[in-house]
Amino acid sequence: MDIKNILIAGGGMMGKNIAFVFTSNPDYRISVYDIYPTDVCAGIRKNCAQLIEKGVITEAELEQRLTRIDFTTDIDSELIKRADLVIEAVFEDMQIKRETFAKLEARCRPDTIFCTNTSVMSPSEISRDLKYRARFVGTHFWNPGHLIPLVEVVKSDATSDETAQTVMAVLKAVGKEPVLCKKDVPGFIANRMQHALWREAISIVENGIADAETVDKAVRYSFGLRLPQLGPLTNSDMVGTELTYNIHNYILQYLEDSHTPSPLLSQMKEEGKMGFKSGEGFMKWTPEEVEKQNADLNEYLIRMLYGK
Ligand SMILES: NC(=O)c1ccc[n+]([C@@H]2O[C@H](COP(=O)([O-])OP(=O)(O)OC[C@H]3O[C@@H](n4cnc5c(N)ncnc54)[C@H](O)[C@@H]3O)[C@@H](O)[C@H]2O)c1
Repeated sequence: MDIKNILIAGGGMMGKNIAFVFTSNPDYRISVYDIYPTDVCAGIRKNCAQLIEKGVITEAELEQRLTRIDFTTDIDSELIKRADLVIEAVFEDMQIKRETFAKLEARCRPDTIFCTNTSVMSPSEISRDLKYRARFVGTHFWNPGHLIPLVEVVKSDATSDETAQTVMAVLKAVGKEPVLCKKDVPGFIANRMQHALWREAISIVENGIADAETVDKAVRYSFGLRLPQLGPLTNSDMVGTELTYNIHNYILQYLEDSHTPSPLLSQMKEEGKMGFKSGEGFMKWTPEEVEKQNADLNEYLIRMLYGK
């Protein structure tokens, strides 16, 4: 199927960044649909300020790319009807997502591909009431969506191979690194691993083994440094699977395996220690430190990805 017209449903933080990603390929015409009027281009300009500052793209290139984005709040617009592929990025709410897709299905062609950018919800459940379920698939972009290359393409219980492969090809055509999640499981692929690590990190603090700063330092200056080059399974092959077996045979019994959020996390929730938002979480944060952490992360990602 020839994909040309991309529709982003939901022009919030993720929707804007996803729209920007698609402008990288001149073959695509991008539309953004939102129930509220929003200045998509202004949002993208703001998000891309660091890319311009670092010389990844020029202001002129960005403006040229933005000319390929249309915006509408009208669900009956031609921009909706002409869509070949839709990426939904509305609020993380099952009912709102289902209603959005029901409205889109009533207006788009039966072969229009439907993607959901849900962070955690099941694509099978979101698409439950649709008529053409084989063309529906999860596309989990990671924040910041204009920088992080990974997109998890998540098959529902009804997604066709053709849909998944078409979406993978489209994502590659805009410079993303799509991976296929063959089963609709909570956390997909990457968040399952990420939160296994967070669970252990919190447990180490909770059990007085090390404080939060030390936990983060231990990651950042050891395996964290290797991770962008060396995934865990290549690492296991590198050291030998027999060694991995012996280590697991000894250590797994001691690792955190709780199935509920830790008591420490519950206590922080009760005390309103929300992290950056409240100025205190596992650590204390001034507004300046919060701003610096956010800016430093983007700067680091730009250096890693573009060498700038
Ligand atoms: N924020 C993240 O880090 C992140 C990462 C990956 C995936 N996601 C997922 O992406 C989706 C969007 O997240 P976000 O952070 O961009 O949220 P957001 O609140 O910034 O944006 C949501 C947008 O959807 C619009 N909207 C709401 N209901 C709508 C409807 N019925 N029709 C059309 N538009 C509607 C809102 O007006 C808003 O502009 C969520 O499913 C979220 O879980 C978020």
